[in-house]
Amino acid sequence: DIHAWRRHRSYTYQRNPLLFRRMSQACRDRLVRTPTVIAMCGLPARGKTYISKKLARYLQWIGIKTKVFNVGEYRRDAVKFYADKDFFDPDNTEAVAVRNLCAQQALEDMCNYLAYDGEVAIFDATNTTRERRQNIYEYCTQTFCFRVFFVESICDSSEIIESNIREVKSKSPDYKDVTAEEAVSDFLSRIQQYERRYETINDKSERNYSFIKIFNCGERFLVHKIGGHMQSRVVYFLMNIHILPRTIYLTRHGESTLNQQYRLGGDPPLSTNGKLFAEALAEYMANENIPDLIVWTSQMQRCVQTAAKINAPKEQWKALNEINAGICEGLTYMEMAERFSDELAARDQSKFYYRYPGGESYQDLVARLEPVIMELERAENVLVICHQAVARCILGYFLNKDADDLPYTEVPLHTIIKLTPVAYGCLMECIPLPVEAVNTHRNKPTNCRRNRTVQDAVDEFLIERDTKPVARTKSEIFYNSSGTKIKTTHIDGSRLPRSDSTSGDPALNNICSLIQDLH
Ligand code: F6P
Repeated sequence: DIHAWRRHRSYTYQRNPLLFRRMSQACRDRLVRTPTVIAMCGLPARGKTYISKKLARYLQWIGIKTKVFNVGEYRRDAVKFYADKDFFDPDNTEAVAVRNLCAQQALEDMCNYLAYDGEVAIFDATNTTRERRQNIYEYCTQTFCFRVFFVESICDSSEIIESNIREVKSKSPDYKDVTAEEAVSDFLSRIQQYERRYETINDKSERNYSFIKIFNCGERFLVHKIGGHMQSRVVYFLMNIHILPRTIYLTRHGESTLNQQYRLGGDPPLSTNGKLFAEALAEYMANENIPDLIVWTSQMQRCVQTAAKINAPKEQWKALNEINAGICEGLTYMEMAERFSDELAARDQSKFYYRYPGGESYQDLVARLEPVIMELERAENVLVICHQAVARCILGYFLNKDADDLPYTEVPLHTIIKLTPVAYGCLMECIPLPVEAVNTHRNKPTNCRRNRTVQDAVDEFLIERDTKPVARTKSEIFYNSSGTKIKTTHIDGSRLPRSDSTSGDPALNNICSLIQDLH
């Protein structure tokens, strides 16, 4: 009850004077830097966790510290053996007490996170009663001066609900020892328990709240009393996402003449290998036979040339152009180490945030790519042909990479990356097409100090480049990384460009015959 929350509030402050000082500061800063709580609302199996995770990934990618607090996880921690739907019976007082305690613990942890560190916290719970929402609102706004934004997901399509239960809920730890059918039936009864007390957000009695109601996964929206920039960004994002099945293909342009010399940037044409890749890519896409495919490229000629033979509508985006290396455009890493050793050291120390003089940082690139990500969310089947740093930023979004890892993601030339959104993440499949290319990846050196030698700055890169195998064998590798399943599929040798007819390059011919031998 409200009095218990208020007692708890003063207790929190007494225990923690530092928190109190920070909160007073937060109250004074209310107009600009106030942390935001996004409180989900809705019956089970309405996609609340899906929305929470997706929103958190987006906000983190644009540089906003965000964390999801899932009350279900607190409940599973507190009650190790979930029996059945009776645990969610609103008349089961013992279970209600446990559930309330879990919700309160999650709320406290969330507010502490926002008080010390975070900017946005997502409270992923059903919050289906008016009383529960009032508690959240009062606790977050009066004890902590945070902003609160409710996101209610309303869905009456039995098709969507059942597919959600089958795909996600029946695989939950609650149902690890039961059949899928039993899980579905228990979960439907659990929903009925919640329905007995469910009160949708009332735009009269709860009109002082800021909220969005999402009907049937985006068929219709109701937006009420948006409070500030952060909430309008969240609304814009939520209005752009969809759950239709689709695939995003991502690749770098074919090898360019400057890639062959290991030079950065510029606007060079494709090399002979690059042209072969353009052909192989067009053939691969034709074989995939993707309905309504659209192709997006940067405005650089190496990307436009790579797309030329693909039979699909094409669009050029300036936002997809490669990172601008400023004073280092056209140099090799070796020349950078010789001419701008301090700059290269500074970049190695903090690659995501480092901005080339007269150029851009990875952080700038993420900001430039935000409209592309938003359009990708709206779109269905798309092939994006772009560049090394740009592809890393796009993958960073889909794979939830942090600022340290993102600029070192390996995106080899002549490799198609297939991204398929699944329940709470993304399935990633790497398909290297069998056309030789140089390796332009440079790992983070162990020595990033300013006074290092040129050798220290580039040695590892050169060793790496010389020893990495270019030939691709027929094999499959699966591994998991932050909820993402990654698969590497190697293309059948019979679909190789013919070495005798297409290339005068002896190295490429060797590679081609090596791969053909393997098959
Ligand atoms: O080397 C190819 C390239 O696309 C350059 O044009 C660009 O400057 C570079 O990759 C980006 O990679 P990194 O950030 O690792 O230097």
